[in-house]
Amino acid sequence: MRIIRYHEYGAPDVLRVEEAEPPRPGPGQVVIDVAAVGTQFATTQQRRGIYPGGPSPLPGAPGGDVVGTVSSIGPGVDGVGIGDRVAALVLRGAYADQAAADARWLVPLPPDLPAAEATLLASPAQVALHTLRTVGRVAPGESVLVHAAAGAIGHLTVQLARAFGADPVIAAAGSAAKLELARQLGAHVAIDYGQPGWADQVREATGGRGVDVVLDSVGAEITRESIGLLAPLGRLVFYGSAAGGLQVPQFSGMDVIGLRYVAGFALSQLRLHRPDLVDAGARELLDHMLAGRLRPVVHSRLPLVEAAKSHELLESRAQTGKIVLIP
Ligand SMILES: NC(=O)c1ccc[n+]([C@@H]2O[C@H](COP(=O)([O-])OP(=O)(O)OC[C@H]3O[C@@H](n4cnc5c(N)ncnc54)[C@H](OP(=O)(O)O)[C@@H]3O)[C@@H](O)[C@H]2O)c1
Repeated sequence: MRIIRYHEYGAPDVLRVEEAEPPRPGPGQVVIDVAAVGTQFATTQQRRGIYPGGPSPLPGAPGGDVVGTVSSIGPGVDGVGIGDRVAALVLRGAYADQAAADARWLVPLPPDLPAAEATLLASPAQVALHTLRTVGRVAPGESVLVHAAAGAIGHLTVQLARAFGADPVIAAAGSAAKLELARQLGAHVAIDYGQPGWADQVREATGGRGVDVVLDSVGAEITRESIGLLAPLGRLVFYGSAAGGLQVPQFSGMDVIGLRYVAGFALSQLRLHRPDLVDAGARELLDHMLAGRLRPVVHSRLPLVEAAKSHELLESRAQTGKIVLIP
């Protein structure tokens, strides 16, 4: 089978198409015949060796949000059958014809949900849901600011924030096309956070009160400014560092002492400590998608062998929604 790997850190062209033995499912695993793989921004940082979570070992094999059918089942796996159609977050070796996945976190899929769109159920929709509700504790009528609001996770967060009754939902993103998409998906206000004065526009959109919940996957200076935008008892949920890389956002205790909360989120930790919330989230998110309350946007579908191009697009910040590779 084909798999995309890299043997050194660097630019997208370090990604190589290689032949490998198909994976065998270990205990608690299944192997999936891959129909579509949703790419993730974090894999570009791993490929460059600047992933905030620490260096990933070489050779690298990018992870991603896989959709396909189960073709073999490892020891100790119950409740999954050969031929089942599933979505799964695969942490390593996702850009391939076949991929091994942890059976615990498979999302069963109905036959009529298109594969590319369904990739968003593997992890991005879970991140959107739990940053907003489990950690962000958003309540109806509260204001929400979503950074990278047209991204794979961000465009889902905008829609869920609306579905949960947040008002206003403020989208921040880096281009006119992205702001337009965020508005179409329900944002009340859309602001270009690459422009000077963006924070003043956010404050204005809340009538000067500040924001109740900020969803921050950008880091660096954006995080620091966003803490200053929090309303009393407001919560900033930090879950990614797209701009910061390894740089930890700097802020002082005095920035948060005025009744502000800064919290972190990692899906891996939620799986470990509150699997019940992740299971319930998977069911809820599928319902939202099937009912049309959650509309997944696919920016482009590229052949698997064009993985390097998908990373170029991710790094150039060109995408709205998800870039998907098709084996
Ligand atoms: N904590 C978790 O459990 C978890 C799980 C998955 C992903 N994540 C994190 O969530 C974030 C979003 O992931 P995603 O896959 O949905 O990516 P994405 O939002 O589709 O892409 C990243 C976006 O970040 C924005 N950005 C801002 N500054 C940037 C910079 N200097 N360089 C590149 N991009 C910049 C860009 O949007 P604009 O052009 O609009 O600025 C870019 O499109 C990532 O940081 C990822 O690490 C966290």
